This record gives sequence, C-alpha cells and structure tokens, in this order.
Amino acid sequence: MAKEKKAAGYLTGKEIRAIAKENRKITKRLEAYKNRKAEEAEFLTEMKNPENILEIEDLHTYFFTEQGTVKAVNGVSYDVPKNAVVGVVGESGCGKSVTSMSVMRLIQGPAGQIVEGAIRFKSWEYKRDEKGQPIAFGDGYEMVEKIYDIAKMPIHEIHRIRGKQIAMIFQEPMTSLNPVFTIGEQLDEVTFIHTPGATKEMAKAKSEEMLRLVGIIPENVYKAFPHELSGGMRQRVMIAMALAAEPRLIIADEPTTALDVTIQAQILDLLQDIKNKIDGSILLITHDLGVIAEMADYVVVMYAGKVIEKGTVYEIFQDPKHPYTIGLQKSKPTMGLDDSTELYNIPGNVPNPIDMPDHCYFKERCAMCTKKCSGDYPGMVQLSPTHFVACHLYEEEKENG
Ligand SMILES: Nc1ncnc2c1ncn2[C@@H]1O[C@H](COP(=O)(O)OP(=O)(O)OP(=O)(O)O)[C@@H](O)[C@H]1O
Ligand code: SF4
Ligand SMILES: [Mg+2]
Repeated sequence: MAKEKKAAGYLTGKEIRAIAKENRKITKRLEAYKNRKAEEAEFLTEMKNPENILEIEDLHTYFFTEQGTVKAVNGVSYDVPKNAVVGVVGESGCGKSVTSMSVMRLIQGPAGQIVEGAIRFKSWEYKRDEKGQPIAFGDGYEMVEKIYDIAKMPIHEIHRIRGKQIAMIFQEPMTSLNPVFTIGEQLDEVTFIHTPGATKEMAKAKSEEMLRLVGIIPENVYKAFPHELSGGMRQRVMIAMALAAEPRLIIADEPTTALDVTIQAQILDLLQDIKNKIDGSILLITHDLGVIAEMADYVVVMYAGKVIEKGTVYEIFQDPKHPYTIGLQKSKPTMGLDDSTELYNIPGNVPNPIDMPDHCYFKERCAMCTKKCSGDYPGMVQLSPTHFVACHLYEEEKENG
C-alpha cells in the first residue's frame, strides 16, 4: 500500500513534516529580506539597455507548498522596451501571471517568494528633499529618473512604483473596484495618492478627463456605484483608474476574458488607442493569439515557468522556431478580432511543476525531438538581434554553421 501511494505521488506524514520544516526555514529568511530596512542605494541599479523600461532577468518565483516547491517562474528573462506593447502568451499555468505579479510584488508570502533574479524598472518620479517632500519647480515639481531593482526592494518601498509607475488591469474589474464608493470617489483617490497638493477640483477634472479618454461620458458615471455599470463599463473604469496615475507601464492580465465578444473588441480598440496616446508601454498577457497579433510589437512565449521563444511579432508569427510555438500556429490567428483564436491544445501534458525533469520540458509532447533532447535543458539560442529560442534543434544549426 505504501509503495502504491508513493508511486501515485502521495507523501507520508513524515515527508510532509520534513518539507514543511525546510519551507519554514527558507521562507523565514526570504520574508526577513522582504521586510528589511534598506538604503535606497541597495535597490538602485542600471538598465542593460537604456531603450527598455522593464528588464526581467533570470527571475525565479516559487511557491513553497506542503507537497514540495512549485517553480512557477523558473528563470524567466524578457524586456519591455519604451513605448512598446509586449504580449505574453502560453498555456494555462505556465507562469504568465506569476511573472507579472512578481513585477508588482503582489506574490503572497510566506508560501510565494521571489527567490532569485532581477526586475529592473525605469522610474520617473518627483525629486524629494531630505524630508521626503517633492521639490517645487515652476508650476509643478522637479522630476528624476531612477532605475530600481524591484526584486531587491523592501516591500514597504514598493509604493514608489505600484499603482503609480506601473498600473495593473485585471481580468475581473468588479473584484478590483470597491463596491461602497462611487466611481468618481475611487478615481479621485488615485490623483490624491499620486499628486502632491492635489485639490478636490483638480482630482475631479483629472477623473473626468480619464473617463472621456476611455470613451465614457463622465456625467453618467462619475456619481455611479460599480454595481450600476455593465462589465464592459467597469473594465473601462479600471483602465481609466490605471491611466489616472499616468503610469509608464500598464500590465493588462487577460483584460478582456470576462467580457463578451463585442465588448472585448471595444476594450482592445481602446487599449490600442491608449497605446498611441500615452507615453508608456503595455505588457499584455492573454491566451488569445489574435489579440497578440493585433496589438503586440514583441511576443514572449512561455512554457512551464520558462520563456521558450521571444521575438518581434513578425518573427513569432511568420517565422516561429520552437516546436511549441509552431504548434500554436495551428490556432491560426487572424489579424481581425472576429474569430475565436484560443490556443490550440497540443496533445500531452506539462510536467509536474514540483518535479520538473532535467531535459527540455516540452520533450514528452514534441514531434521533432532528437537524441540531444534527452540531455540538459536547452539554452537560449539567439537567431537575430530580437529573436531567441530555447531548443536544441537550433544549437545544432549554429554549431554546424
Ligand atoms: N498561491 C499559489 N500556490 C501554489 N502554486 C501556485 C500559486 N499561485 C500560482 N501557482 C502555480 O504557479 C503556476 C503558474 O501560475 P500562473 O497563474 O502564473 O499561470 P498563468 O500562465 O497566468 O495561467 P492562466 O493562463 O491560467 O492565467 C501554476 O502551476 C500555478 O498552479
Ligand atoms: S529541445 Fe528537443 S524536445 Fe525540446 S522543443 Fe526542441 S526539439 Fe523538442
Ligand atoms: Mg494568469
């Protein structure tokens, strides 16, 4: 019986207790690091490429569970250039959201922890005096650019960027809006938090401007409560709230999944429109390849906690290299948004995230694998200045010239 349980992946009480003890040891250390007091110099850094606004490098975010360590994000690297839309695509559970939640430092501890890697972000903020007050300059305030390593920031410093410099649009807007405050109150609050000395009139004017920007007539909505609005309107309000802080980066995680098809198209048109109006970048996470084809400049393909291919939208759609990305093309995205372009379901399963193999994680589902694929996990091969793939097939190509 014990043997059968073992084979089925059951753990004994003793094994669970040993894992729990080890987890406590690791997470205690990581929580202490997260909550430490630190001089700013400790989490300031430099961008590798000054054209980027965000650089994620070798990020590892794990969940320390009783069953073992879930390596949800296992060495992810990708960049978001200035004024660009980067689309992240991949099957459910591959780590898209955990990566973006790591950027926002919203991973729930003690179980969830960033254990390794850098998240470099170019912040544009008020210059402050020794007392922490913004320094007046002309009609406004003096500004300064700082590069933070978000992964190293103590958690109590994250207010410098969360919501202000980086805003997030979630899948289900009702859970992000507060049901007891009007839309106007919630929008005004964003300005109060992020603009020193903002008056009620200034905040209201800004809120109304943002509502207009997302195609809402403010008179109809400013005094309304969230439950009085439709799903599509609420999502527009969420986008208005994200924009009110004038962020440099918007993370939109499945922003249209909860909406019906016509509203989805409207919201995407809106995001497209906003992309052209704001001086910022969008990180767009979606299952929908059609949306990526329509909106993104660059595409990151994730699989089982890793990036397996990345490149420009042209490279990924016209010249996909990884067998998984090639498989995805079977969902035949069209440049219009009318067709359903959910990811094609490639037969087979992703390996157990607690017990990943040493070889390529796609091997069991890959129709193109060779002898080499039983060896180490493939490294990233660079195919062009922007196109990268993690697959042994291309290492061979390079070796053979
Ligand atoms: N709190 C948690 N505890 C344990 N495992 C977690 C937790 N949150 C996420 N995970 C695991 O992390 C992995 C990545 O999850 P993530 O939410 O990033 O996937 P995703 O790519 O966003 O998927 P989807 O497309 O379904 O939104 C999954 O295996 C998931 O089960
Ligand atoms: S490394 Fe091998 S198994 Fe993995 S995707 Fe490439 S060909 Fe397939
Ligand atoms: Mg997700």
